[in-house]
Amino acid sequence: MTAPGDEEPAVAVPVASGTAGVRGRVVVGVGGGIAAYKACELVRRLRADRFDVTVVPTASALQFVGAPTWEALSGHKVSADVFTDVPAVSHVATGQQADLVIVAPATADLMARAAGGQADDLLAATLLVTRAPVLMAPAMHTEMWTHPATVANTATLRSRGVVVVDPAVGRLTGADSGPGRLPEPEHLAALADLLHRDPQALRRDLIGRRIVISAGGTRELLDPVRYLGNRSSGRQGYALALVAAARGAQVTLVSANASLVEPPGVAVVPVTDARELETAMVELSADADAVVMAAAVADFRPASTATTKIKKVSGQDPMPLALIKNPDVLARLSEPSPGRPQVVVGFAAETGDGSADPTASVLAYAREKLARKGCDLLVVNRVDDGRAFEVAENAGVILAAGDRPGDWADVVAEAPIGPKTVLAAAVCDAIAARLSRDR
Ligand code: CTP
Repeated sequence: MTAPGDEEPAVAVPVASGTAGVRGRVVVGVGGGIAAYKACELVRRLRADRFDVTVVPTASALQFVGAPTWEALSGHKVSADVFTDVPAVSHVATGQQADLVIVAPATADLMARAAGGQADDLLAATLLVTRAPVLMAPAMHTEMWTHPATVANTATLRSRGVVVVDPAVGRLTGADSGPGRLPEPEHLAALADLLHRDPQALRRDLIGRRIVISAGGTRELLDPVRYLGNRSSGRQGYALALVAAARGAQVTLVSANASLVEPPGVAVVPVTDARELETAMVELSADADAVVMAAAVADFRPASTATTKIKKVSGQDPMPLALIKNPDVLARLSEPSPGRPQVVVGFAAETGDGSADPTASVLAYAREKLARKGCDLLVVNRVDDGRAFEVAENAGVILAAGDRPGDWADVVAEAPIGPKTVLAAAVCDAIAARLSRDR
């Protein structure tokens, strides 16, 4: 047993509270549920992301994870009641000083108290005092989440501007499973980061909209063990699904070979190759308001797939490989038809033409691509320097088609280099704006 202060810090985070380089003050409120242990990872991520973090657990949360853990992770004293350190008026100061409040897990009881405007412990008082953006991540049994009381409390909190993220679906504490799991800390940290950058980024302007998003990179099989693939990780499409769902959309993610965690509240349909992706996208787009082709689809596939492993043939060098064209899924989804989704979004990874003004040539290529594909919006990434693939950050320009074929496509948004959620929010803005126009 070591005394406090004897042991190595639980997490080596090079940020002390109040030092330069801190992005802002985040209060992490922790409700009394088993998912409290996941909030430890959230605190660690937020500190690694240069936030000064104060943890405010409820008394019940401290039954699950003790105060020393929260203090070691956050670097701040922790208390659940309003009578500790009375001269500091912490029941008011904690909320006043916050730039962002995240409640994870938000239990049914805590949501009820927050919706009722109660201030019976430090966390409830903080929620009543703060004027900073508030993100709540509910975690509870499905029966509690779907109970009319919780449904009404969620609606009340959302109507006041609280961002309530839908819980993830899966195994719950007992043998049961269903909606009620706390979303993964990586998703909560990503949403917190976005909300801190832009308090409007998670406004619920996509409620009732059905959006189908493709993500990842297709694999075209050569034989049972080999394929032709590409470097797309799927991160941009997953970020889009995360943000669109948080903004109220009903999101289906057609995921081609991405090794990423499913975003909360999103239905995931796995596919492998371009033709499977096409079938899924065409089927799902039938009743969608918007479709987004963020997947990197192979333009060609092997003319045939061997049923057994291809063997080396002596003297055969180079090895011939016949390729045939894959369907252009974006062009097909964009074709005018009665069932066409109102908004079809494509992505284009472009390099400049090597001239002195590469941006102009990137935009010229992009305008030509938007017209050729027939989509409504085109998100253009510059990939001159290998950016956009396998990295967490991205930048982009969004082009919107004119009203008539051949009209000039306007740049409607520019997202500077930043997390993929920032570009995702800009794409959601453009989709929401387009959907709100008359057809
Ligand atoms: N795309 C698609 N089906 C394909 C290839 C691409 O739906 N067979 C979609 C991508 O998902 C993306 C957009 O088309 O949204 C642009 O992809 P890109 O590879 O830039 O387009 P290409 O048509 O292959 O153009 P280029 O000649 O520049 O490679």
